[in-house]
Amino acid sequence: MELERNFDLILQGATGFTGHLAAEELALHAPESLRWAVAGRSSTRVRALAQRFGVPAIVADGLDRNAVGHLAAQTRVVLSCAGPFSVFGTPLVEACVEQQTHYADLTGELPWIQKLIRAHHQRCVEQNTTIIPASGFDSVPADLGVFAMRQKLQEDLPVHGFFTIRGGLNGGTLHSGIALAEQGILTDASPPPHVGPAVFKVPVLKRWAAPFLMAAVNESVVARSTQLISGKDGAAPFPSPYQEHLLVRGRLRALQMKWLLQLSNRMLTSPIGRKILKRFGPRPGEGPSEQDIREGFARFIVVAGKLDAPTTMRQWNWDGDPSNRITVRCLVQTGLALAAGEAKGGGVLTPASALGDSLLQRLTAIGAVQEKDLV
Ligand SMILES: NC(=O)c1ccc[n+]([C@@H]2O[C@H](COP(=O)([O-])OP(=O)(O)OC[C@H]3O[C@@H](n4cnc5c(N)ncnc54)[C@H](OP(=O)(O)O)[C@@H]3O)[C@@H](O)[C@H]2O)c1
Repeated sequence: MELERNFDLILQGATGFTGHLAAEELALHAPESLRWAVAGRSSTRVRALAQRFGVPAIVADGLDRNAVGHLAAQTRVVLSCAGPFSVFGTPLVEACVEQQTHYADLTGELPWIQKLIRAHHQRCVEQNTTIIPASGFDSVPADLGVFAMRQKLQEDLPVHGFFTIRGGLNGGTLHSGIALAEQGILTDASPPPHVGPAVFKVPVLKRWAAPFLMAAVNESVVARSTQLISGKDGAAPFPSPYQEHLLVRGRLRALQMKWLLQLSNRMLTSPIGRKILKRFGPRPGEGPSEQDIREGFARFIVVAGKLDAPTTMRQWNWDGDPSNRITVRCLVQTGLALAAGEAKGGGVLTPASALGDSLLQRLTAIGAVQEKDLV
């Protein structure tokens, strides 16, 4: 049943670093007919932003249940950039479930996603409400890349993903990591939970693999996609796990990246480390320069079969800084797809299980990503 709403889409957290960029991206790609608005907790800032884009402003603090309830009741789709999500995000998701409003966000906070699944998945399936956490750089590129690869495979094969990235760190992302650690739910996220050595040579790519910061989140999202897609379509499940790595030149660089990841985890999980990060790291609202955002990129190579003799290899080239340009393109196209009624069903889903091909086609059509076969 379609409910009458004033808006098709509301962007919450629009005054933050990614929120601003998402509003710009919406202004660029929203169809003429889309009734959209920007929302945030600061009345002055959200109104100034709304004026810039010529759209209505909605003031809603994420912790004010009445305000987010009213927000969710007015629209068919909510996109949220208001993080840390484990701190500010729960009432909005609850309101969306209550109001049967589709929702997507930028969280990479795995324990929070798992909480949402436990609390809301079943009800959302029954009432056909689509909730898609992790609709930014984590985990759209990995989830859609593995989804596309597995669709082409005739048999169950192990799949490895290798990221090469250039990009900056947002204050919002750092503070989301700090928030998880302060809640005692970030223990030691490194190395990722897959089997196998952390650092190893990948002869077929003439590079070395190192542990990747987002592997734990992406591997978990991909595993859920696999489970949801195979369950729904009655297709053979893919029991082989997906394993994700960072791809670098040379063994020394791979070891450096491993140590760096271990160090950042130690910093996040110790009170003194967190103090140092808060003092010297980027603050909420801060992020890379325009030039860095423009010059950033992510290359994602998916290898199916044995690493020394792959059955198939495909590459996706994503344009722009991963945490910002890629992230907002993924989020905004997810929101537009939800508003266009392209979701395959309700539930607390993943990008691939909720939208799959249609999201990949949208992202390809706007030039966010190009794909090529390697083998
Ligand atoms: N998935 C990815 O790849 C990816 C990439 C980048 C960022 N992220 C995540 O996205 C989130 C935002 O990142 P960012 O760099 O944009 O951070 P940011 O600049 O600090 O923005 C945070 C936003 O949340 C809003 N907010 C904070 N408390 C709120 C509350 N109580 N009610 C309503 N809104 C509230 C802020 O409002 P004010 O403007 O009023 O302060 C701001 O709009 C973070 O959790 C980050 O980890 C994910």
